[in-house]
Amino acid sequence: MPALKLGVLVSGNGTNLQAIIDSIKSGYLKAAVEVVVSSRDGVYALERAKNCGIRTFVVRPEDHGRAEEYEEEMIKLLNWAGVDLVVLAGFIKVLSPRFVRAFSGRIINIHPSLIPSFCGKGFYGIRVHRAVLEYGVKVTGATVHFVDEGTDTGPIILQKAVAVEDDDTPESLAARVLKVEHELLPEAIKLYAENRLQVAGRRVLIRKEEL
Ligand code: GRF
Repeated sequence: MPALKLGVLVSGNGTNLQAIIDSIKSGYLKAAVEVVVSSRDGVYALERAKNCGIRTFVVRPEDHGRAEEYEEEMIKLLNWAGVDLVVLAGFIKVLSPRFVRAFSGRIINIHPSLIPSFCGKGFYGIRVHRAVLEYGVKVTGATVHFVDEGTDTGPIILQKAVAVEDDDTPESLAARVLKVEHELLPEAIKLYAENRLQVAGRRVLIRKEEL
């Protein structure tokens, strides 16, 4: 089975990208990060990629007149790199239906809550954890899902819960959820690489591992 070719979209620190890179280095993940595309310049995710020789590109929405042009450049880059799977790893831009159709069924995203709670427009980064604490829920977590034409609405691949502690701050909660994200995202990519995911309507069924 050839290594799955990944195109990783980022916007910030890149700890989820690092989790993918480390999972490939350890042999857990049979994949290769072909390109890293960032919506922002100067973010640490780009350094993480450069440190291990991955090609990086910065495609900023503000450098393009229309959203279509911005996305067109990303579509060209990802197709040029021949990616099999597009991974949104701390990527904060909402992608248009046109982009989603260009990689139909081949885009996954990691979100730092138990979808359908605390997700959708405006729910990203520390805002999610602030909302979790403000609402007073006792359990939160992380979700990996396929990306469809909605925001955080695609079929769910994996989820894992994280208990909320009484003395939690948005930062302490984010740190514990991030640890879970770093397990969940490589695991979801591994299931995709092994062709063990079957989408049935809104559900994602996981086929047993062939031993
Ligand atoms: C993560 O919590 C991710 O779920 C969210 O943004 C945060 C930053 O992740 N979308 P990273 O360190 O840039 O991977």
